[in-house]
Amino acid sequence: MPKSELFGKDLICTQEWSKEELVKVLELAEEMQKDRFSPKYTSILKDKTFFMFFYNPSVRTRQSFECAATELGGHAQFLEPKAMRLKTKKTAGETVEDAAKIMSRYACGIGIRMLEDKITRYGEGDELLREYAKWADVPIISMAHDKYHPCQGLADIMGLRKHLGKDLKGKKLLLTWAHGALARSWCSVQEAALLYSRFGMDVTIAHPEGYDLDPEVIKATKKNCEENRAKFEIAHDVKEGYKGADVVYSRNWMSPEAYRGGELRKEEEIERALKYTEWTCDSEKMKLGNNPLFIHPMPVDRGHEVTDEVASGPRSIIYDVAENRLHVQKAIMALTMAK
Ligand code: CP
Repeated sequence: MPKSELFGKDLICTQEWSKEELVKVLELAEEMQKDRFSPKYTSILKDKTFFMFFYNPSVRTRQSFECAATELGGHAQFLEPKAMRLKTKKTAGETVEDAAKIMSRYACGIGIRMLEDKITRYGEGDELLREYAKWADVPIISMAHDKYHPCQGLADIMGLRKHLGKDLKGKKLLLTWAHGALARSWCSVQEAALLYSRFGMDVTIAHPEGYDLDPEVIKATKKNCEENRAKFEIAHDVKEGYKGADVVYSRNWMSPEAYRGGELRKEEEIERALKYTEWTCDSEKMKLGNNPLFIHPMPVDRGHEVTDEVASGPRSIIYDVAENRLHVQKAIMALTMAK
């Protein structure tokens, strides 16, 4: 594969890539899905190593990146903070500058995940990724951090292109808060709001009062909608947003007060969220939509965020989207890391 114009580019949020660049990833991912083990792809990262640096646990992201590296002929190495001697607020150790420069001498790219209880305030994970990006000579890829989850967003859009067609303009997304026992970060839903609106979808974000997302992300989503002549609204009614929806994305997220006193108040967040029992996506609500697809980045908090009937029903595309993580990440790695 010839060196791409995207070679060396970081992926921290899809908003920082042009629409043409994002479509290039999706088209290559779709080709890679069709012809998964073709010799065209199996040596793209031959002899190369991708570092996966996880502060938090993962199922799909770790597995799909590891498989992606293998299928491109390379290798993915799992790293976690306890296996390194990094400087922190409380301990002496290696600086990000030194770590990033050294890791760049070994690997063709570095993925980083940092969110939830591994940060002391919203924005800290994003700052860490950008600090690595400042010093590294290889691409820094977000594997989900407190603000964004670009690989998930691209996997979602790949799923929607398959099920709704490549032109998503005018299709309505309901991105609805859901009660749940996990106090989830804003990364997946913020990425979805930004990315779906880039593809011309009408966006309704529904949540109880007090669950606002990052105002900067909302502002950028509104602007994306305006530029694409798409509609944007925020609703606080549990059912209203379902009307006419083509896609329902039901996900728990933490409140803006989740980080206080330098820590995530997880138990308090869960206790607060579990009071909103009516905020579960179920068949009755789905009937208000336009035979909507159900989408979710997983892991799904079944019985809280969504009923089993919807999550495992005929309109659910959760497994397709999870599979797409592999294909979009292969495409991202091929375009940004292969010489
Ligand atoms: N969607 C997602 O990132 O899943 P994991 O947390 O299991 O990696």
